Amino acid sequence: MNVVIVFESLWGNTAAIARAIADGVGESAHALSTAEATPDVVAAAGLVIAGAPVHAMGLPSEHSRESASRKPQGAGHLAADLSHPPMRDWLDALPAGPRLGAAFETRIRGPLGRGAASGIAHALESHGLTLIDGPRSFNVHLKTSSSESAALLFDGELDAAREWGELLSERALARR
Ligand SMILES: Cc1cc2nc3c(=O)[nH]c(=O)nc-3n(C[C@H](O)[C@H](O)[C@H](O)COP(=O)(O)O)c2cc1C
Repeated sequence: MNVVIVFESLWGNTAAIARAIADGVGESAHALSTAEATPDVVAAAGLVIAGAPVHAMGLPSEHSRESASRKPQGAGHLAADLSHPPMRDWLDALPAGPRLGAAFETRIRGPLGRGAASGIAHALESHGLTLIDGPRSFNVHLKTSSSESAALLFDGELDAAREWGELLSERALARR
């Protein structure tokens, strides 16, 4: 089964989680940005796993992306990567079809507000996908010093993402 893990990621944390999920799923999986995961690619996938960072307790918006672009947050003050479209826009263009799906998010704080993953999960379902697990969160922390301000994954989160990928792969195969 073709599996795509689609991400929006301004400083690379959500992308790193997506790649770890892909490792857990196995060789059939590809981690792709919202720019790379074109409707054709997604239409050929049997399982679509989509994730985004939490911004202002929800999915990133034009406003939050614009505000992030003014906030150097990556190691060495990397500029936010806005080269790929927001997850919101990608979800709007998602081809409808009977596929399997799952949603994830990265966040700094505990579960406050709605988050990003529940909105992604809702959109996947409304495009005809069947969710094979509940929305999943992965935590990052802000490392700040006089020279650096970076969002970094907590220890263990990449392993947790790999394990989740394995679980989703097993569930998807059991439904074939
Ligand atoms: C504008 C903005 C708003 C944010 N709001 C929240 C928030 O409400 N809750 C939270 O836990 N993290 C929040 N964060 C932290 C992001 O979730 C964190 O930067 C993200 O997980 C890093 O992922 P990325 O490297 O893939 O962009 C916010 C970040 C930005 C830039």
